[in-house]
Amino acid sequence: MTVVVFGSINRDLVMRVRRLPLAGETVAAYGLELLPGGKGANQATASALHGAPTLLIGAVGDDAHGAAMLAGLTAAGVDSSAIVQVAGPTGLAHVFVSDEGENQIVIVTGANGEARAPLAFPSCADHAVAVAQAEVPASEVARFLALARDAGACTLFNPAPANAEGAALIALADMVVLNETELAFFTGGNVSEGDDAVEAAARRLMARDRQWVVVTLGGEGVLACGPGETLRIAAPKVAVVDTTGAGDTFCGVLAARLSEGAGMAQALQLACIAASLSVQRVGAAASMPTRAEVEAALVRS
Ligand code: RIB
Ligand code: NA
Repeated sequence: MTVVVFGSINRDLVMRVRRLPLAGETVAAYGLELLPGGKGANQATASALHGAPTLLIGAVGDDAHGAAMLAGLTAAGVDSSAIVQVAGPTGLAHVFVSDEGENQIVIVTGANGEARAPLAFPSCADHAVAVAQAEVPASEVARFLALARDAGACTLFNPAPANAEGAALIALADMVVLNETELAFFTGGNVSEGDDAVEAAARRLMARDRQWVVVTLGGEGVLACGPGETLRIAAPKVAVVDTTGAGDTFCGVLAARLSEGAGMAQALQLACIAASLSVQRVGAAASMPTRAEVEAALVRS
């Protein structure tokens, strides 16, 4: 295995609405779909579709959603042998997507609350990349990242959704991938004042632990700060349909490329292209491109 993901597995109940409801407001949906989701499952799917041997560690419930997720992950090429089935419901995300492509998500944790890090890191080749997010218990994420590090893997932590427990986990990763909102959360600053504020906040986070801090900026691409180096990658200009899972696409493809030994700049560029393809289609995992699609888009860019 070259990419090992520890994280959440959800079914996404996706409702298409003209615009997102305000607090206290009721709006009618014009579309309803049940799609694969969960940040762990999404990132593993993106990695597997990109051709990396990918193992997902997590938990599903003993319901139809869990069975559907296991089947879907296997079909996408993810090794699901380390996913446990526990009593109770599978994680469920209620996702509203507006005509502007914006979303609002409410998660019911379900079986993800029972996800446990393995006792030993799965044996894997050189350049193994270990990936985690913040939708499973933080104490288990800490154990997973520490195990991976001891096993010599490169660790990538995506502190999403941003929560107080995620702050302590950031130091455990070689690479932190987060969006502007999450960056503001963890640096306690306002980073909406433009490029310089984003870079200053990313550098502050980076300086703490001498790691790579990769900030995804939506349509503006990505800013990556590493020890002694700053990279800026522009994103292709595209028409946005649904951004759900764009960050997951980015993380999965980045991990897949790094596990092949690609350099940071190249891996970031391909991850950006993959994310820009995913936002043009509805759904999270359902919208992720194959490696061939990413490479075709790279030639066009
Ligand atoms: O990152 C997108 C994902 O977040 C969705 O698939 C949903 O399940 C939530 O976990
Ligand atoms: Na999408």
